[in-house]
Amino acid sequence: MAFYRSHVLVCVDPECLAKGAHDVVDAMQDELVAQGLLDEIQVLETSRIGGCSDGPEMMVYPEGVHYVGMTADDIPYLVEEHFLKGRIVEKFREVTKVVVDEELGPLRPKEVRVVLRNCGEIDPMNIEDYLAVDGYQALGKVIGGMTPEQVIDEVTKSGLRGRGGAGFPAGRKWGLTRQVEDSPKYMVCNADEGDPGAFMNRRVLEGDPHSVIEGMIIGAYATGASFGYIYCRAEYPLAVETLNLALTQAREFGFLGKNILGTDFNFDLEVRVGAGAFVCGEETALMASIMGMRGEPRPRPPFPSVQGVWGKPTNNNNVETYANVPQIILNGADWYASMGTERSKGTKTFAVGGNVAKPGLIEVPMGITLREIIFDVAGGIKDGRQFKAVQTGGPMGGCLTEKHLDLPLDYEALSQAGSMMGSGGLVVMDENSCMVDIARFFMDFTQAESCGKCVPCRIGTRRILELLQKMCDGKGQPGDIEKLEELCHEVAKNSLCGLGQGAPNPVLSTLAHFRHEYEAHVYEKRCPAKVCRPLIRYEIEESCTGCMVCARNCPVEAISGERRQQHVIDQNICIRCGICMQVCNFNSVAVES
Ligand SMILES: Cc1cc2nc3c(=O)[nH]c(=O)nc-3n(C[C@H](O)[C@H](O)[C@H](O)COP(=O)(O)O)c2cc1C
Ligand code: SF4
Ligand code: SF4
Ligand code: FES
Repeated sequence: MAFYRSHVLVCVDPECLAKGAHDVVDAMQDELVAQGLLDEIQVLETSRIGGCSDGPEMMVYPEGVHYVGMTADDIPYLVEEHFLKGRIVEKFREVTKVVVDEELGPLRPKEVRVVLRNCGEIDPMNIEDYLAVDGYQALGKVIGGMTPEQVIDEVTKSGLRGRGGAGFPAGRKWGLTRQVEDSPKYMVCNADEGDPGAFMNRRVLEGDPHSVIEGMIIGAYATGASFGYIYCRAEYPLAVETLNLALTQAREFGFLGKNILGTDFNFDLEVRVGAGAFVCGEETALMASIMGMRGEPRPRPPFPSVQGVWGKPTNNNNVETYANVPQIILNGADWYASMGTERSKGTKTFAVGGNVAKPGLIEVPMGITLREIIFDVAGGIKDGRQFKAVQTGGPMGGCLTEKHLDLPLDYEALSQAGSMMGSGGLVVMDENSCMVDIARFFMDFTQAESCGKCVPCRIGTRRILELLQKMCDGKGQPGDIEKLEELCHEVAKNSLCGLGQGAPNPVLSTLAHFRHEYEAHVYEKRCPAKVCRPLIRYEIEESCTGCMVCARNCPVEAISGERRQQHVIDQNICIRCGICMQVCNFNSVAVES
């Protein structure tokens, strides 16, 4: 496979064709021959570069320069200036349109995009766009000149660790699958992404599917796999559509199927759509689901590397893990390992949510601190409020506090602090968040998602949830906190899979750092953050002007009072909806606990 230093994409949609796009392509080819540049610069016909109104339209990569409105006669000058002298030809340059991915937005401070580099930059439905940004060149490099062992060594040397949560070294996992003497072998991509609020994997699948597919093909070459599955949740219909189209195009170009790139290496892929059960993200449940069985976890060992899909050696990695691979092969393990900390290399994507000014999807180098993520990348706490806690690692992660803000982001650092990297959910909480309520929220999720196979998880998570609910309802009794703690340890210790083992984390971490809030709920029947409804009261203060706005808006007519007189709330009627506080123009309604 040839390596080009530049790729020129010319739009050949009807409007650009009518304005002479084919003449431009022909002139380009002739000029490249004349200048001896044919081996260095590739010209491809494509579609939908821009609006076509200023056609013919052309994109030049890797510079990402967008040219419009040139004719065949302009091409010799353009080739000489751009490709020989390295000068952008301003008169043809399209400058009015800045392509910014709506979901991703422009690069934020401290962001480094490796996995998300192509999202919003290329058309994911067109393989030629991916080719133009060095797509499938890593595959060419691997098949053309590396042994499977060299590929595994390179991935191992890069320090890439699994991005699905546990952080197992990817190269080592590939090596384990390779070593097993059994066939056929399978590759699996975990695209289940069930964490509430997380959409890092979806964005990559929808915006740059070929990077994942290329990573899987390279992995198949390294491990000796001949077939693979991408397990994607049904709630991601666009990702499924994009993936299926990308697979068809990759087959047409000879990157998938029999005799890949003219060699005797055969590998193909299929998309399997999951029904959206969170537990199906656990790898043994995922594989059961691929085989058409109930998505229930099973004990490990045997690990998937030894016995996975159809009882055969299977390598399972997360979407983001695979998407990193082509870049590691192209730029080298040392480049990747130059980012991050001693033990955690490269970058990590996060879906930052909660009470930050700029929530959304980010990609940052490992080793960055939580403080930098929250305050520099995500714009700080919303509405100038105080930071209180941050939950990392999704629903089975833990809550960290002010004292953890300067921890460098690293798999070990996070787990030592009582949380985890997880797949990349990051929920920031401000002073108005009740930590007992937060623990109840996450337990509500994991309890509902327990597959029910094992008793500690099925019954234990339910009992934990009941205790938390009791506390939030103001019905907690002495001894409940201790009971809660003990139950959490038992469920974590005795559950079969990571769901049950991790479900108590939000409770245990909030108990560790905010025990006083639990005690206030149980012993003082008070919610210090004034969130738990049964424990709060709305009161109208002396500054009340008697304008009657609150009384008119109260849905249960709990407010009484004469015009221009201080109003009163009947606590026996009030349902604590907070509407009076929102509508009062004089800040005269206060919430107490
Ligand atoms: C309940 C549960 C849900 C999980 N969900 C996902 C998921 O959505 N995506 C994922 O990649 N890994 C998920 N995992 C982790 C997988 O079991 C597995 O470790 C991962 O796919 C391995 O890939 P990696 O080594 O590239 O991280 C989940 C684990 C558990 C226990
Ligand atoms: S809206 Fe505020 S000021 Fe007006 S009556 Fe109600 S509490 Fe008093
Ligand atoms: S909190 Fe809701 S129900 Fe209670 S007094 Fe105010 S508006 Fe009425
Ligand atoms: S669902 Fe995994 S332990 Fe119960």
